[in-house]
Amino acid sequence: MVVLISGNGSNLQALIDDIAEHKIAAEIVAVISNKKDVYGLERAAQADIASHVVSHKDYATREDYDTQLNSVIASYSPDLVVLAGFMRILTPWFVEQFTGKMLNIHPSLLPKYKGLDTHQRAIDAKDEVHGASVHFVTPELDGGPVVLQSKVPVYSDETASQLASRVQEQERQMYPLVVRWFCQKRLLMLNNKAYLDGNEIPSTGYAPD
Ligand code: GRF
Repeated sequence: MVVLISGNGSNLQALIDDIAEHKIAAEIVAVISNKKDVYGLERAAQADIASHVVSHKDYATREDYDTQLNSVIASYSPDLVVLAGFMRILTPWFVEQFTGKMLNIHPSLLPKYKGLDTHQRAIDAKDEVHGASVHFVTPELDGGPVVLQSKVPVYSDETASQLASRVQEQERQMYPLVVRWFCQKRLLMLNNKAYLDGNEIPSTGYAPD
């Protein structure tokens, strides 16, 4: 698999750790970041994984950027592309290169709070429950079929960053699990729907309760 990051890389680390512990039968062949000097690149180096910086600042248009990103990824012929905190909107053309082979983790209970600032938005809305979703990537931003969600309670006096850190703790559990299912060939996307072991996954993800 190829993992795309933009920052800290804690989800990347969770994958590295589970692969090292043989919980996921796969190899991360490359890590790509759109930002230089982020800690996720250091994590890749420590795990001896090839890494590339493809900076969005070097390309005039989104199309040019995605063309270059696609060619770096394609040079590895990955079976799976994992977006792990990759903070870029992707063109439909790019997404279509990896239909059914690209996963993302989003810090909300989709379809709630697509886009940014999800934790603050959950607090502002006085939601009692918040969480994260792993989904297949389709051209619609944060709109592909959900595979798994994890929920956390929202406490009345907490800040967005306290809430974020509790959500991220869940993310580090759930993303490797979904990647494991994919690598075991138990998980697939067909006609915009996700299936696990041949069963259609409900729109709120496997194990909605
Ligand atoms: C995660 O909360 C993810 O859901 C969001 O960005 C954050 C990335 O964290 N898209 P990390 O870089 O994996 O630590």
